[in-house]
Amino acid sequence: MSKEDIYILGIESSCDDTAAAILKNDEVLSNCIANQEIHKKYGGVVPELASRAHLSNIIPVVSQAFDEANINPEMLSAIAFTKGPGLIGSLLVGTEFSKALGLSLNIPIIEVNHMQAHLLVHYIKSNKKSPDFPFLGVTISGGHTQFVIVEDYLKMNIIGETLDDAIGEAFDKCGKIIGLDYPAGPEIDKLAKEGDCEKFDFPIPKVEGFNISYSGTKTAFMNFINNSTLKDSDFIQKNKIDICASIQKNLIDNLILKIRYASKMKSLKRIVIGGGVSANSFLKDSLKLEENNWEIFIPPLNYTTDNAAMIGIVGYFKYLKGMFSDYNTIASPRLEFK
Ligand code: KG4
Ligand code: ZN
Repeated sequence: MSKEDIYILGIESSCDDTAAAILKNDEVLSNCIANQEIHKKYGGVVPELASRAHLSNIIPVVSQAFDEANINPEMLSAIAFTKGPGLIGSLLVGTEFSKALGLSLNIPIIEVNHMQAHLLVHYIKSNKKSPDFPFLGVTISGGHTQFVIVEDYLKMNIIGETLDDAIGEAFDKCGKIIGLDYPAGPEIDKLAKEGDCEKFDFPIPKVEGFNISYSGTKTAFMNFINNSTLKDSDFIQKNKIDICASIQKNLIDNLILKIRYASKMKSLKRIVIGGGVSANSFLKDSLKLEENNWEIFIPPLNYTTDNAAMIGIVGYFKYLKGMFSDYNTIASPRLEFK
C-alpha cells in the first residue's frame, strides 16, 4: 500500500439493487451486488419492499466487498454513497449506513449523484481508452433518459430529458403488457434477436428540441396489443418475437434520432452512453452504423446496470478535489447535477 493510494468504498442503494465496491484509486478491487428478486412477481419495484431488502442486504454485501478486495475497513480513505436520485426509502439505507460507518472510522464521506456515476463509469481503469472531454453523455436507465454536455469529470449540464417515461421504463411497461417479468428490457432484447423488427409499426412521438418522450408509444403499443388480442386471443403467443423486435426498434430509433439531433446542434461527435439500457444489443448495432460519424463509448456489461463501482469512481474524483460531504447530508430522491 503506497502512502498516496486512495481506497474508496462505494455504496449504491438507489433502487432495487444493494451494491458495494472497493476501489484503489481508479482501479476496482471488488464489485458486489445483491439483486432483489422479490419485485419480479409484482411487475415492478415495490418501494417499501426494496428498502426492507436493502436493510437486510447492506451489511453482507459490504462485508463481501471487503473480503473480495482483501482489505480491512481501517485502510479506507473515504466512503462514497448515492445521495440521489432514486427511491427515498432505498437511498436512506445507503446514506445512513455510510454516515454511520464513516463516523465510526473517522473518515470523510462523499455524496454521489447516481446519473453522473452512470457516465463516469467510463473512467474506471481498464485496457480500453476513456473518453476525452467534452462529450455528449446519454444516460438511459429505468428512471432516466438524459442528454448531457460533459465538459469535465464533475462539470455536467443536462440539455434534454424525457418528458414522461424513461426508455428503460418504456421497455419494462411494454414487456409487462405482453406478460414478461420485470425488468422486461433484457428479455425483450433476447426475444427480439429472433424476430422481424419491421413487422409492426408504432409511432415515434414528435418533441421539439433536446427533450424526448416515450409514453405515447407505450399507449399506442397497449392499444395495438388490446385490439389484436380481441381479434385473436393467441396473438401475443404467435407473434411474441416480432412484437419484441418491433417495439425495441421503435424505442431505440427514437433515442438515436435525438442523439443525432443533439450531436449536430452541439457539434459533439463523441457520444458516451451509460445506464441499464446501454446493455441493449439493438442499440449497440444501431450505434455501430454511426461509427464513421461518431466516437462511441458503451460501458462493459457489468457496468451498464446499477453497480457500486460507478459510485466509487465518482468518489475518487471528488476525493482528489477534497469535495467531502457534511455529516448532516440527507438522501435526496430528486437530486440534480451540480
Ligand atoms: O441503470 P439501471 O440498472 O437502473 C436505473 O437506474 O434505473 O437500469 C435498469 C433498466 C431497466 O428498465 C431494464 O429493463 C433496462 O435497464 N435494461 C435493458 C437491458 N438491460 C437492462 N433494456 C433493454 N435492453 C437490455 N438489454
Ligand atoms: Zn441507474
